[in-house]
Amino acid sequence: MSSISHDLRTPLCAIAGSASVLLDDEHPLPRSEQRELLTMIFDEADHLNRLVRNLLDMSRLQSGGLLVKKEWMTLEEVIGSALERLERLLARHPVHVALPPSLPLVPIDGTLIEQVFYNLLENASKHTPPGTDIFISASIEAGTLVVQVKDTGPGLPAACEDRVFERFFRGSRARQDSGVGLGLAICRGIVEAHGGQIQAHSRPEGGALFRFTLPLEGTPPRLPPDERSPSSLEPHEGSAGPTAHRPQPASDHAGAA
Ligand SMILES: Nc1ncnc2c1ncn2[C@@H]1O[C@H](COP(=O)(O)OP(=O)(O)O)[C@@H](O)[C@H]1O
Ligand SMILES: [Mg+2]
Repeated sequence: MSSISHDLRTPLCAIAGSASVLLDDEHPLPRSEQRELLTMIFDEADHLNRLVRNLLDMSRLQSGGLLVKKEWMTLEEVIGSALERLERLLARHPVHVALPPSLPLVPIDGTLIEQVFYNLLENASKHTPPGTDIFISASIEAGTLVVQVKDTGPGLPAACEDRVFERFFRGSRARQDSGVGLGLAICRGIVEAHGGQIQAHSRPEGGALFRFTLPLEGTPPRLPPDERSPSSLEPHEGSAGPTAHRPQPASDHAGAA
């Protein structure tokens, strides 16, 4: 509790401090310095928002209140939304997305799996030096979707490949502002709630590798390559599987530095 309180207080103090300087009519600041303070308020509020979201997700996972609502979706769409939300954090990291063109629709809870990508990519941005590459790839192996998110940073803390998924685990080198150590515990909770598994490795060539699986049950609705109309996405008659979700065109985020 004291560690979390400290993590919540740091951005709050920065926000309150900057706002009080901006409100001081007796010592007006030049426009450029005002902007700097406003940017800092924005960034710190964003940071606070992410911390609180992690706390809420974790308490839902723990209380069993997490409902997995599977829909047929394209993986690009989910990855695209996570990348969009992380645009500012990832500004100094080229992100390379490699998905096979034959990848079918996958039965997932899009909001939750987006959060898995979000937490993994947030880590890849915060626990690695600026300028280093991040790779996202997916494949199908024996009826299972296999997703990999890897980076080219320092890799995981030694002998902590399992421990990183524990609640409140933070590596000793983790930056003060990186989070409260819940991001990966949430990833594991969400992936396991889908019936999949997640593992972490330090790559021999350097960098961290996260690999998770998601079972591909049921028959995906047929998706003609050029004709992505909502009617073509109706699930097969009598199918009790996930509902169909209309995919949005994915944008290319490779090299979004
Ligand atoms: N991509 C990565 N590279 C190196 N270390 C990582 C990476 N992702 C996670 N870690 C390690 O795992 C720990 C736990 O990650 P996480 O649960 O997301 O917590 P947080 O990011 O809040 O510290 C981090 O503190 C860090 O030590
Ligand atoms: Mg994290």
